[in-house]
Amino acid sequence: MEHRTLGQRYELVEQLGQGGMGTVHRAVDHRLRRTVAVKTLSAELVRQPQFLARFQREAHAAAALNHPGVATVYDVGEDAVDGFAVPYLVMEYVEGRTLAQVLGDGPLPTEQAVDAAGQVLEALRHSHGHGIVHRDIKPANVMFTRAGIAKVLDFGIAKALSEMATRLTGTGVAVGTPAYLAPEQIEGRDTDHRTDLYAVGCLLYELLTGRPPYTGESPFSVMHQHLAQEPVPPSRLRPGLPPGVDAVVLRALHKRREDRFADAAEMKAELDRVAEYAQIPTAPAMPTPTAMDPRAQADRPEPAEAPRHDRAARRSDGIRSLGRVVFQPTPEGMVALLGSTLAVVVSRSEMIATEHFPLVALLSGLAGCVLLLWSARLACAVAWAPVAEAVAVWSEFSRANMGWETRYVVIALLLGLVAGACLTAGYRDERTGGFALMSFWFTGLTSVWYFLDDLRKIGVFYVLLLGVCLALGAQTLKTRLADSRSPAVSAPEPAAR
Ligand SMILES: Nc1ncnc2c1ncn2[C@@H]1O[C@H](COP(=O)(O)OP(=O)(O)OP(=O)(O)O)[C@@H](O)[C@H]1O
Ligand SMILES: [Mg+2]
Repeated sequence: MEHRTLGQRYELVEQLGQGGMGTVHRAVDHRLRRTVAVKTLSAELVRQPQFLARFQREAHAAAALNHPGVATVYDVGEDAVDGFAVPYLVMEYVEGRTLAQVLGDGPLPTEQAVDAAGQVLEALRHSHGHGIVHRDIKPANVMFTRAGIAKVLDFGIAKALSEMATRLTGTGVAVGTPAYLAPEQIEGRDTDHRTDLYAVGCLLYELLTGRPPYTGESPFSVMHQHLAQEPVPPSRLRPGLPPGVDAVVLRALHKRREDRFADAAEMKAELDRVAEYAQIPTAPAMPTPTAMDPRAQADRPEPAEAPRHDRAARRSDGIRSLGRVVFQPTPEGMVALLGSTLAVVVSRSEMIATEHFPLVALLSGLAGCVLLLWSARLACAVAWAPVAEAVAVWSEFSRANMGWETRYVVIALLLGLVAGACLTAGYRDERTGGFALMSFWFTGLTSVWYFLDDLRKIGVFYVLLLGVCLALGAQTLKTRLADSRSPAVSAPEPAAR
């Protein structure tokens, strides 16, 4: 029988499966005379312009990974099918079953579940060390060889897809499987290595209990639970589970990334520790132990690499991270620059009679420019404050002009509420909080301007300016320090700092 051959090299022999992104075949590489797995991407994706370039870029990054727990990417290419360039990915052929198939037989014995999660964490430690976040860890993307070695599939593909989603929809949402999506993925915020740790938490949960932490009628209901509901501890579904294992799963499933494990190594170490404490025996190979199988020796993961950071290195990383200068032009950065320029302009305008205002506005404008190199959010907070004050003063929105009219009081109160929401949003989100902070100044000061007389207004303005800057500065420092403590590198996304 005639088989299809891609790139005049890979002869597709048998279909192994089909997923959301394309079809996987067992194939023969005629040049190197070996069996490989070839994933051809679906026609729908192929029609998206630019996808090809992104896909190839991510595949090249994934090809740099060299670890027994990662299905190696060998090649990437494209072939014309019905006039379309169809991209394909050539990877290591893994003989075995996916964890999704293994789960078809029901939950795993505790030792096998812990062992499988541990192996996935080892693979992630390697990829995170190379700056590659998987973003779609799930049972269907983990295969087990006959020797019981876990291999993580599809590195790089989810990244290319989520970038496409970002481009198409303006958010990073909608890539991945709802059952394993971390809250930050659902909300379209930036992802990092801790996003994968959340998915490993979901994976371990399912391996232990036979179901993911959140289930529901629709994907939306599942996503809502990821955002808002605490998971039922796995021990409730599987009585007798050691409390330590329960704790590891629940920590990985925290909504806030800062509350999860700092990195894959820490989670793996904790899993090993609780397994030892609970005297969980070492896992037999899965699905059928073949201890004498030579592949068991060949495939065994190499011993853990030495920790990448010793204490001194961490300290210097921390200092470097604190002083990290961000030159990337982003919309938020442009808004901060605009605020700084306007602050300098209002400082020269002499339209505000207060003695100190010109100096405060000038300093805010200059500080905004300097802080912009470090954090656009902080720059927005500092630079837009005097601009908003000037606008509030120039506007007619004051009780002296309008009296205690109910509708104005209601408007001012609503503005105050919006200001509170903006401040909270700006405080919580380092990446895109600058816009919210800009709105905070306008709504907040307009609200305050209505209720207070002149002298108090000025006092409130200075107190707010100082308080907001101190709180945000402290919070930015804290985030930077936390980032520097985790060895894994964030995914190189178009950050909007
Ligand atoms: N490298 C590989 N070696 C052997 N079989 C593989 C390999 N990669 C994938 N498969 C098989 O092909 C099937 C389909 O994989 P695919 O990645 O396309 O789908 P999926 O993981 O279920 O969904 P998604 O598209 O979301 O990744 C897998 O379930 C697995 O059985
Ligand atoms: Mg897959």
